[in-house]
Amino acid sequence: MRISIVGTGYVGLVTGLSLASLGHKVICVDNDTKKVNKINNGESPFYEPDISELLKNMLLKKTFYATENLEESVLESEITIIAVGTPSVNDQIDLSFIEKATQQIGAALKEDNKYHVVAVKSTVLPGVTEQIVKPILEKYSQKKIGENIGLCMNPEFLREGSALEDALQPDRIVIGQADSRSGEEFAKIYSKFSCPKIFTNLWTAELIKYAANSLFATLISFANEISRISESTNKIDILDVWTGVHLDKRLSPVVGNKQIKPGMLNYILSGCGFGGSCFPKDIKALASFADHQKTEAKLIKSVIEVNKTQPHRMIVLLKKALGENLKGKRIAILGLTFKPNTDDIRESATFPIIEELISEGAKIICHDPMAYKKYIPTKLKILPINLAVSVNEALKNAEAAMVITGWDEYVKLTPQFFKKNMNKPIVIDGRRIYDKTVFTKAGIIYQGIGL
Ligand code: UGA
Repeated sequence: MRISIVGTGYVGLVTGLSLASLGHKVICVDNDTKKVNKINNGESPFYEPDISELLKNMLLKKTFYATENLEESVLESEITIIAVGTPSVNDQIDLSFIEKATQQIGAALKEDNKYHVVAVKSTVLPGVTEQIVKPILEKYSQKKIGENIGLCMNPEFLREGSALEDALQPDRIVIGQADSRSGEEFAKIYSKFSCPKIFTNLWTAELIKYAANSLFATLISFANEISRISESTNKIDILDVWTGVHLDKRLSPVVGNKQIKPGMLNYILSGCGFGGSCFPKDIKALASFADHQKTEAKLIKSVIEVNKTQPHRMIVLLKKALGENLKGKRIAILGLTFKPNTDDIRESATFPIIEELISEGAKIICHDPMAYKKYIPTKLKILPINLAVSVNEALKNAEAAMVITGWDEYVKLTPQFFKKNMNKPIVIDGRRIYDKTVFTKAGIIYQGIGL
């Protein structure tokens, strides 16, 4: 099929490349000339495992290209997917990009004589597709949804760092449809996938996405709240608690004669807080939506509150090891991205930690394998911090090392490495990636979340 995708961010480009690899002809549209040129030169605007190879491959096969020309792309396709950003402004979802894209798609469709389906892939609150996208589309195209154009809402469930894998091996496909013909036509783009396909109304599809992200974020905040209780006793290691909880067969079912560990359990582990471009924004938007609906959403609001205060636990642990006065102390921060295998630093737990350290007069040297590999993001340029080229450089003369992101490169570090590179090694483990006993026995002063 011929598919146009508006927006070449994370969702748009990953979706476009995966659909092209399934044999569809895909055109990705963006109004940023630099981005379009970059993509057409085979360079992904962001880091994601294997994306550059796939991009080069699809360009070579001529099943994929990027352009600034939205009208032409819409007219050359049968399906248009909206994958523009829905940023958060004052904790409310900003729909201006969606509205503008819909107007332009509608105007292009005015000139189209064939049946065309428009699908919203951007994360939008329940009601947005029906109450905002639909009237704009009908007004600008001067056509009626259900007659000569179709409308769907098709949420994405990609995780950064494994986005291509998630797009090519989806767990399920959710298709909210304005009418059954819209859903039927749109679902053809996924005909090669055998996973469950859920056809539902537009509103339900929208809430499925928010409910999924809120569930995972809630589990993380729950795990972090329990870790605080654990820390308050000085007698419990939270890792032992989670081992004891996870072994419940309702969480780790026995298949054959082997107990399996579902990926979901990764979210019932304590850490220094969640970040990224999705969880914080989506949870806040859902809470505002609940307010707007005059429905209480106490639990969801608490998820945000727990996450806001969780990074501070790292300072508490640091002070336990290094003393109350951080003035002039050199602290190494290991990890700036919101999770491993991405170069994305948005809403990373690292920033509230760095800001608190700076306010206490500490000197900060940071390391991250990806965050500033290609260029230094403005957020890092404006902070009074130093960026190290290697972990060794970050640790040199540091009085403590704080692990914020569980990069593999850090997981592999041994106690000997810290001892070799630091005068008096103190390690504060925000992701519990090291063995407490091994590190302590080796002479490291070790503190971790939930200890
Ligand atoms: C999340 C969802 O997992 C995807 O299903 C969804 O499609 C995506 O948002 C989206 O809405 O676009 P992502 O933000 O890439 O994906 O990252 P996750 O792997 O879910 O991690 C989110 C945050 O939770 C990270 O900061 C991570 O460090 C943190 N986390 C995760 C914890 O703090 N503790 C854990 O136990 C697990």
